[in-house]
Amino acid sequence: MKRIPIQQRGIEASRLILGCMPFGGGWNRDPLTEEDVLKAEKAIEAALSIGISMYDHANIYTMGKAEETFGRILKARPGLREQLIIQSKCGIRFGEGDVPGRFDFSKEHILEAVNDSLRRLNVDYLDVLLLHRPDPLMEPDEVAEAFGKLKSSGKVKYFGVSNMSAAQIRFLQRALPDQLAVNQLEMSLSRLDWLDQGVHVNQPVGASVNFSEGLMEYCQMENIQIQAWGPLSQGKFTGRSLEGEPENIQQTAALVQRMAAEKETTPEAIVLGWLMRHPAGIQPVIGTANAERILACQDAERQAQLMTRDEWYTLYVSARGNNMP
Ligand SMILES: NC(=O)c1ccc[n+]([C@@H]2O[C@H](COP(=O)([O-])OP(=O)(O)OC[C@H]3O[C@@H](n4cnc5c(N)ncnc54)[C@H](OP(=O)(O)O)[C@@H]3O)[C@@H](O)[C@H]2O)c1
Repeated sequence: MKRIPIQQRGIEASRLILGCMPFGGGWNRDPLTEEDVLKAEKAIEAALSIGISMYDHANIYTMGKAEETFGRILKARPGLREQLIIQSKCGIRFGEGDVPGRFDFSKEHILEAVNDSLRRLNVDYLDVLLLHRPDPLMEPDEVAEAFGKLKSSGKVKYFGVSNMSAAQIRFLQRALPDQLAVNQLEMSLSRLDWLDQGVHVNQPVGASVNFSEGLMEYCQMENIQIQAWGPLSQGKFTGRSLEGEPENIQQTAALVQRMAAEKETTPEAIVLGWLMRHPAGIQPVIGTANAERILACQDAERQAQLMTRDEWYTLYVSARGNNMP
């Protein structure tokens, strides 16, 4: 798989990222099982075999067990860590007692969360740390202090954000000496507001579109790598049962299957190729732990290169369920 640089920062990452949210079994405090580790190992093997070098974590995934699983695998395979680009996230806290689930960009939380992630992952450093979801109480100078400590101690190389608007990124960036490297957003054929926001400018019909205005353009202008979470739409177009799904989803799933058959490829390669055909150079974060499904993503980059404008619009319009304005 062709590698692309994450901007000017010198990290050479694969175009596809393996999302590690499913690793580690359920979202509970049950101990990790050998079966969980074996399943993750098979998934990583499959990902490596198709050239995936970047792995996406968060401190909260399966309540820490996703990172723990990955850490066990790294420990058993010395030398593997240096072949990988490991990204994790912090900033979401679970509810405890009377305190609800919340977001936390305090210096204390960021530093503690990274130490915990490093311990679970069995690594000395993260390549990339993302702030998971915008915290309304964020103080950019405080975040900058935390990032500064993590950078100078060698615990984190690069920093980024997730689910943030252009204004929020600008606000944070003012306090930081280094440019933010990544913004991870939900984007797929079933989550289209990142495109609809742009095509509806000056159209009353676009009033209900919920996406930060100008974010796609801002990230591209500022060289911020856009990563897409949820890129497989949880299997909606690639074989999952569609019972109860709206007509546009059902029709698009049939279209994806038809295109895949015509092009002698997989439905996964079509839906990912559609995302990757966008000029922003999106990196899809595929969240499957199923080794066969990971292998089915292999042809995505080639399909992106082959996809014509007409094919791209045919998929977009079908998934919108409405003609262009
Ligand atoms: N930044 C954020 O706020 C955020 C939020 C959510 C996720 N993420 C990241 O993004 C990654 C991907 O997100 P995602 O999991 O929401 O998206 P996804 O890649 O669209 O979907 C993956 C899920 O769909 C299932 N699936 C895929 N194809 C299927 C099929 N044909 N039939 C049945 N099930 C199918 C997978 O199950 P199998 O494992 O069985 O294949 C898995 O549970 C996560 O792992 C995580 O790293 C980030």
